[in-house]
Amino acid sequence: MKIIDGLLGEHALFHSTFDGLEHVLSEATSAIEIQRAVETLAPGILSHAALEDELLLPAIAAHIPNGPTQVMRAEHREIDALTAQIARAGSLEEARDCGARLLDLLRDHFHKEEAMLFPMAEHHLDDKKLQELGQRWKARRGLA
Ligand SMILES: [Fe+2]
Repeated sequence: MKIIDGLLGEHALFHSTFDGLEHVLSEATSAIEIQRAVETLAPGILSHAALEDELLLPAIAAHIPNGPTQVMRAEHREIDALTAQIARAGSLEEARDCGARLLDLLRDHFHKEEAMLFPMAEHHLDDKKLQELGQRWKARRGLA
């Protein structure tokens, strides 16, 4: 399978978890509720971003100017930083504010990848490369 198919499958699941986080952000009565929700989501999202950084972005960067892949990497770092800031939040207001910023960033970032980055990869990388990266993605995710 092509790496894009694997990454898109992960996106499909994340979209439903974003809706869950939005609900927690509006209903939470303490920072800890938001922190627990983000703690549950964060490992999957951060490992997803790390796999893009490691496998997909270098392959695309070999074919196009650096700009778009650098934007993606910068947003991955921002996701990481906001997640850490939520873990340290000392009040419900701070946790909710950072959580809302994280949710907006995630939705915008995922949309950019689906609308721009993944089509760019399909355009610039040949089928053999996409399949090879797909094999590496499967191995890193523990799939047979
Ligand atoms: Fe990403």
